[in-house]
Amino acid sequence: MKAVVMKKVGGIDVMEFVDRPEPVVMPGHAVVEVAAAGVNFMDIGVRQGMAWTEMANPKILGVEGAGRVLSVGYGVDGFAVGDRVAWVYAPGSYAERHSILADSLVRIPDAVDDHTAAAVMMQGLTASHFATDFYPVRPGDIALVHAAAGGVGLLLTQIIKLRGGRVIGRVSSEDKIAAAKEAGADHLIVDTEGQFAEDVLHLTGGEGVNVVYDGSGPKTFQGSLDSLRRSGTFCWYGPVLGGPGPLDIMNLPKSIKIGYATFFDHIHTPELFRARVHRLFGWIEDGSLKINIGGTYALASAQHAHADMESRVTTGKLLLIP
Ligand SMILES: NC(=O)c1ccc[n+]([C@@H]2O[C@H](COP(=O)([O-])OP(=O)(O)OC[C@H]3O[C@@H](n4cnc5c(N)ncnc54)[C@H](OP(=O)(O)O)[C@@H]3O)[C@@H](O)[C@H]2O)c1
Repeated sequence: MKAVVMKKVGGIDVMEFVDRPEPVVMPGHAVVEVAAAGVNFMDIGVRQGMAWTEMANPKILGVEGAGRVLSVGYGVDGFAVGDRVAWVYAPGSYAERHSILADSLVRIPDAVDDHTAAAVMMQGLTASHFATDFYPVRPGDIALVHAAAGGVGLLLTQIIKLRGGRVIGRVSSEDKIAAAKEAGADHLIVDTEGQFAEDVLHLTGGEGVNVVYDGSGPKTFQGSLDSLRRSGTFCWYGPVLGGPGPLDIMNLPKSIKIGYATFFDHIHTPELFRARVHRLFGWIEDGSLKINIGGTYALASAQHAHADMESRVTTGKLLLIP
């Protein structure tokens, strides 16, 4: 089968589209035919050596996708050959076929197509965790959402709006305004230099926002702190784009709550995982959540997809199609 491997740590040129042995079904696993694999910033981080360093190279990139079960291993209950399934945190998803731990699989309802299912796994679970667990948005809350036209940003904006909140989105270019508005953002700020806090304070009558969702790297950190109202919540989530460095707790604004959110810590059992994915699928089925697929690329063009994501020109979710 064909797969995209990284042969060493580095830029997009370390990725190669190669032949790999067919996966063999193991106990507790299912082999799936991949219909679509999601592209995440996390994959860029892995390629740059920020994660999975314990796994030897060459290794197959990618962690999420959707497809069809080809075979099931000993001890797998609840899945059968032919089932349409989606998954997340299954290293090796940039491939035509993949052997996945059954606990990481969820069945896809008929009303949700494969591309949509693949597109909502990592970023949808992330966005829904942020807006319903880490800081459960209440009606009337105002949120600042960074990269509001990105994969996480578009979903986060819609979920905040579903809960009755208001959204100030920050995007890096005028070209991204339409997508963020379409998702429901009430106000948009265009900025790449970390100079947005004054606008946020102006838009909130000087008070600041109840919550800021920031995975956009060190440049936005101070502006995000300055955008918070008294007792506001800072949801930080961007390991690949980088953190602010060590924090001096005594110099943080008083009474704020700040933390590094990852859905995987909270949604840590197969039951929780499936319940959260089914909630996302339900929102898609009833029309509350629209999935914006900003680009589909042939699996052989994974380098191109990574280059586009890094160059900051894309909106929505990027998918690789084997
Ligand atoms: N903690 C978690 O559980 C979790 C889960 C998923 C993702 N993440 C993190 O979330 C971030 C986004 O990842 P994603 O895969 O979900 O993609 P995404 O939301 O689609 O993010 C893409 C957005 O990132 C912004 N961006 C791209 N390059 C940038 C750069 N060099 N500097 C600053 N911003 C840049 C762009 O927005 P603008 O150009 O408009 O700024 C782009 O729309 C990453 O840092 C990733 O590590 C964390």
